Amino acid sequence: MQKHQFEVIVVGAGGAGLTAALYASRNADTAVISKLYPTRSHTGAAQGGISAALGNTEEDRPEWHAYDTVKGSDYLGDQDAIDFMAAEAVDAVYELEHMGLPFSRNPDGTIAQRPFGGHTNNETGKPVHRACYAADRTGHMILQTLFQQSIKNNVKFFDEFYVLDLLIHEGRTVGVVALELATGEMHIFHAKAVVIATGGHGRVWETTSNAYAYTGDGVALALRKGIPVEDMEFYQFHPTGIYRMGILITEGVRGEGGVLINGEGERFMEKYAPHVKDLASRDVVSRAMYLEMKAGRGIDGKGYINLDVTPEVVNHYAQIDGRKNPDGTPYRVTASDILAKLPDIIDFCETYIGVNPVSEPMPVQPTAHYAMGGIPTNKFGEVVIDEQNTVLPGLYAAGEVACVSVHGANRLGTNALLDLVVFGKYSGLKAAEYASSEPFSELPSDPEAFAMQQLNRLRESSGEENMITLASEMKSVMAEHVGVFRVEKGMQEAVDKIRELKERFKHVRVDDHGSKYNMNLVEAWELSNLLDIAEVTATSALARTESRGAHSRDDFPDRDDKNWLKHTLAWLDDKGVRLAYKPVKITHYQPKARSY
Ligand code: FUM
Repeated sequence: MQKHQFEVIVVGAGGAGLTAALYASRNADTAVISKLYPTRSHTGAAQGGISAALGNTEEDRPEWHAYDTVKGSDYLGDQDAIDFMAAEAVDAVYELEHMGLPFSRNPDGTIAQRPFGGHTNNETGKPVHRACYAADRTGHMILQTLFQQSIKNNVKFFDEFYVLDLLIHEGRTVGVVALELATGEMHIFHAKAVVIATGGHGRVWETTSNAYAYTGDGVALALRKGIPVEDMEFYQFHPTGIYRMGILITEGVRGEGGVLINGEGERFMEKYAPHVKDLASRDVVSRAMYLEMKAGRGIDGKGYINLDVTPEVVNHYAQIDGRKNPDGTPYRVTASDILAKLPDIIDFCETYIGVNPVSEPMPVQPTAHYAMGGIPTNKFGEVVIDEQNTVLPGLYAAGEVACVSVHGANRLGTNALLDLVVFGKYSGLKAAEYASSEPFSELPSDPEAFAMQQLNRLRESSGEENMITLASEMKSVMAEHVGVFRVEKGMQEAVDKIRELKERFKHVRVDDHGSKYNMNLVEAWELSNLLDIAEVTATSALARTESRGAHSRDDFPDRDDKNWLKHTLAWLDDKGVRLAYKPVKITHYQPKARSY
């Protein structure tokens, strides 16, 4: 057993974790613990951009960005936090630029921006160029830039260490317990402050854009410690994943003029969002795609839609829409424009499905993409643990694992990268500030006991249940009943099934009993995390008897502000899920009906 001591420990090395570590390390002795090598983190898969009202291409304002985010959230986002994020966005992007992030450029040298779903000019209602991008590799570039800066700032990295337990003693956060994957050795990290930045949990569903590593480790850690999670019923399905594979095809494709076409050759988004069409918010587009497919208008009647970015089609619809370049000339693209702006998309489609998007449409379907819910925090990244927003001393969370809540019931594209740099920064700053004012609190006696006991139970587990079977049953029931459309009967079935799977998990078989790189054991641990998250998600969804954002119920089709303009809090223990609610923070945007 090795022991370490750092003032600030960050768990997770994606964009949020690295930003937190970078800022914390300016004032505190800081280490990052990550189950992956940092540049393999899932932030690297984010493609289309990071939002900020720079106004490089056309007029834009942080207030418009804030309003679009509130509207996109279906009024469930906390408006104080949204205002804060939109106002911080401009500086955050310039700071990344100054760190060396290679953004794509306009001819005048400014950072290039493209339209994205739900981002509008609030006066005309038309899509606005707000997503700052580095071709279609924006997340990859952010990750590389932040990693280099963290190394320069002497952040200490513990790569391929898997955090098993969060240590809370006498009401304070005092560290974590982690497994070193290469050796199987247990490590205790004693800290004054811990920042959780472990990302999302898309692996709960069958078809997902998420990495294999996205198994909700941070949310599950918190739940096991009696910390509630917020708004877990709101899970986003991105409209355009590669058919059957789920691999992300960036919304930037539609930002560049690509259109969704059904089996009858119609650009159907005109019916569902007459103003912004293919650039409506993701919840709206994903639902429209399913409705088209349900009505038999998928391509060849199948479960997919075509996403067409071939120059002829883009130019045809750009002319119909009257789309103009910033200098007022008609918007036109060539094959080389598409190649320059979407190189990875072209590469992915050629590699995985043998389709060249410059000359053929891409087959796409909605794919599980992003958790709006997570560990509740205030806008400084401090974790809050009840309906009164009481802060848990020494614990912070940022990025997809957290629920600030700036995304409410539905996140706008490119607000995820923004969320992770803004709230990563403030959680790191706050953690360091707290660490500088507090001594190290005592560790509990036997800090590793819980993690050891759980791990040994799993390692020695030789029951009859196969973990791949359990995982696929979970993914299938969640996809069928807790996906884009939901009804009471299906969600109840999902809750019952997940409880059954959790019982069966007690008899799961782990075949590898060794110590070194025992990924079989880690995968079993990850599956138990996913099962906890599935239970909380399905139970929270079942209780919310309305439709809002990504939570769309056929049996309760309307938004119900009278009864449901509130955040869900969910606690999990051996008896199941307990729910409570807290109010949404509304400052200046009163809820109204959404239309795009
Ligand atoms: O479509 C995309 O490029 C994804 C961006 C996001 O989820 O923000």
